[in-house]
Amino acid sequence: MEKKAVYPGSFDPMTNGHVDIIHRGLKIFDKIIVAVLENPKKRTLFSTRDRVQMIREVFSPRDRVEVKAFRGLLTDFLRRNETNTVIRGLRAVSDFEYELQMALMNRTLDPTVETLFMMPSLHFTFLSSSLVKEVFTLGGRIEGLVPVVVERRLKDITRKPKGLRQYV
Ligand code: PNS
Repeated sequence: MEKKAVYPGSFDPMTNGHVDIIHRGLKIFDKIIVAVLENPKKRTLFSTRDRVQMIREVFSPRDRVEVKAFRGLLTDFLRRNETNTVIRGLRAVSDFEYELQMALMNRTLDPTVETLFMMPSLHFTFLSSSLVKEVFTLGGRIEGLVPVVVERRLKDITRKPKGLRQYV
């Protein structure tokens, strides 16, 4: 039977830390479904469609990575996708409390759900989507921190009249 896991997140935008976690996950699972949260209450820099599209550009179909948007409860998404395994990246102790809360809430909602925490490469332990947006807005270099497609899209946004400033 195919071993698959869901890697959920906002991915606004995807960083190389996320990419690293997916590659690590692919060593354990046959397939990873990247679940991009569509949250009407949360203002994101990139639309759900753009976030999904960028991640699809990062991974080719033979990479065993599927990308889907989701709304509502993660446990419902897991059920629809016939898996009970969630992958989350853990960068530092500071991530732990939030991650523990989510993992235990998901387990309360569905006792079959298991969350697997994976550590990214040391190079990416400081990296987050919000820091990337901030550094980029302030004119800092983000090469090597995000996939090339994300870098390109960030540059496209800054050329637009409203720019990035309102989001960070
Ligand atoms: O990248 P993020 O923003 O840290 O990801 C958070 C995410 C998407 C994993 C989390 O917010 C989530 O699972 N949201 C779906 C709603 C849900 O199921 N909430 C209850 C369990 S925490």
